[in-house]
Amino acid sequence: MVTIKSPSEIESMRIVGRMAGECLETMMKLVKPGVTPLEIDKACHDWTIARGAVPATLGYNGFPASLCVSVNDVVCHGIPGDRPFKDGDIVNLDVTPKLNGWHGDTNATVFCGKVKPEAKKLVDLTYRAMWDGIRQVKPGATLGDIGYAIQKLAQANAYSIVLEYCGHGIGREFHEDPTVSHVGRPGQGLKLKAGMTFTIEPMINLGQRFVYVEDDDWTVRTRDKSLSAQFEHTVLVTDTGYEVLTLRKDENPEGPV
Ligand code: MF3
Ligand code: CO
Ligand code: CO
Repeated sequence: MVTIKSPSEIESMRIVGRMAGECLETMMKLVKPGVTPLEIDKACHDWTIARGAVPATLGYNGFPASLCVSVNDVVCHGIPGDRPFKDGDIVNLDVTPKLNGWHGDTNATVFCGKVKPEAKKLVDLTYRAMWDGIRQVKPGATLGDIGYAIQKLAQANAYSIVLEYCGHGIGREFHEDPTVSHVGRPGQGLKLKAGMTFTIEPMINLGQRFVYVEDDDWTVRTRDKSLSAQFEHTVLVTDTGYEVLTLRKDENPEGPV
């Protein structure tokens, strides 16, 4: 069931969305060669708790950490470990604070030190693809319009889109209906209505689209070991278009990441 949020529920989503954006912005600045994912996990946990929220990933279906940290060929759901970041890594941080029963979900892929041009190109394109998807959002548009916009940009560059993991409705639940695919056909699928809230979070691979889950039951990697990038925002359908609830103060939708 796709829920329509009331004005007061939307206000709660705005508050936690803003918090998610601030949390991500803070964590992004910590990524440097020599820093470990576990250090970011601790920082994220403390930052969130200090603001009266909880990290929704912690204990979610048994996930053991306060955020996901996905490096290089890890597509998503990386469990923070003690292996330090290296110069040239691309690092996705995915945070989901829960405040007063409401969730905000956002992620970004950042550069650790100096990365290769091919990595930068993949990350920049993935960011643009997320925004192309977001710009489709308005009442009467469909989920297929969002997927198509993302797919078009990725395929023009011969990158591939991960199909197994999707965006999702969000609100009182971390993951609600609808499922938001990052491929689609214009005009197909669920019609958007004002008051819907969902994430758009494309995962785009430099190589083939195929992925597998590691023995830890969480970490998702590309089969061909190619790099994978992702960005995510939580979006509200407004009467006239969209509002990005997790927008960061430092963020420029037009610019490079
Ligand atoms: N934040 C992820 C998403 O965007 C979900 C992480 S679930 C976890 O949907 F259990 F892996 F943390
Ligand atoms: Co999400
Ligand atoms: Co997320």
